[in-house]
Amino acid sequence: MAMAYHKPALLQESVDGLSIAADGRYVDVTFGGGGHSKEILKRLSENGRLFAFDQDPDAEDNSIEDDRFSLIAQNFSFLKNFLRMYNAIPVDGVLADLGVSFHQFDVPKRGFSFRFEGPLDMRMDQSSGITAQEIIDSYSRGELIRIIRRYGEEKFAQRIVDNIIEARANNSIKSTSDLADLIKRSIPAPARRLGGNPAKRTFQALRIEVNQELAILERAIPACLERLSVGGRMVVMSFQSLEDKIVKNFFTQATESKTPLGLPVEIKALSAKFSLVFNGSQKASEDEILDNSRAKSVRLRAIERVAA
Ligand SMILES: C[S@@+](CC[C@H](N)C(=O)[O-])C[C@H]1O[C@@H](n2cnc3c(N)ncnc32)[C@H](O)[C@@H]1O
Repeated sequence: MAMAYHKPALLQESVDGLSIAADGRYVDVTFGGGGHSKEILKRLSENGRLFAFDQDPDAEDNSIEDDRFSLIAQNFSFLKNFLRMYNAIPVDGVLADLGVSFHQFDVPKRGFSFRFEGPLDMRMDQSSGITAQEIIDSYSRGELIRIIRRYGEEKFAQRIVDNIIEARANNSIKSTSDLADLIKRSIPAPARRLGGNPAKRTFQALRIEVNQELAILERAIPACLERLSVGGRMVVMSFQSLEDKIVKNFFTQATESKTPLGLPVEIKALSAKFSLVFNGSQKASEDEILDNSRAKSVRLRAIERVAA
């Protein structure tokens, strides 16, 4: 049987979170295998409209033949420009299922996974940007420590980077396996036995840096919120704590009144324009995690525009 392109987590819950209006206009900013897009289309009438973004050209093979649907093969950081081009502002909902698809992880030549031998690429859009190999070869010791520590939350970043610096001097890091072996050697044996493959955190850090995932998310959330109609919602699924923290902070700020503290009355023009659909984040059930282990780390948050 062919490998599934992706298996979405919290599929029903996330689309329920959009509270779809049948004639509404929606955006799926992370199209991937189209699981969420298909579920959204099911809930739209013939007057509804769905725009989807994906920066990975491989996702175009999953495009959906449907007059109500347009796939925009671009980074969602360009959302505003493309929606404007389609004359599609405001929108009634935006869904983001962040991170990497199963397909991207499972194709060795994409270089995302320490489980397979492959080139150190890790670009979601292979037509532009720098690869993980270029980062390994050209970043300074300090820059490498910073990204592996910050984006990978790796305690042994310094030891890993010292070994990278030594190995790259004789060109001996050329593939995912070379890097995974080096990381394994860099981590003390007792720590290696805890918490899964020791390469996981460094690979995550490199992937985030290659694709500028956090910086793009920080720009994209306010851009999406600004384009929502009153009653429109944004639903975001994150799979690691740094992303979830960014979503949580933006959503919290957006739901706070800007009326100065201490004023006896709320100034209407400064009232919060957004409200959380529910407090905190939603997680996957035990049953879903048994069926799809990636669902274990999902955190779903949702926000609604309540005023213009
Ligand atoms: C977890 S998958 C989404 C899977 C999808 N929800 C489904 O049901 O199949 C994330 C997808 O978003 C894409 N992606 C991630 N960041 C992106 C960005 N900044 N711009 C456009 N696409 C992005 C990836 O290429 C990947 O295909």
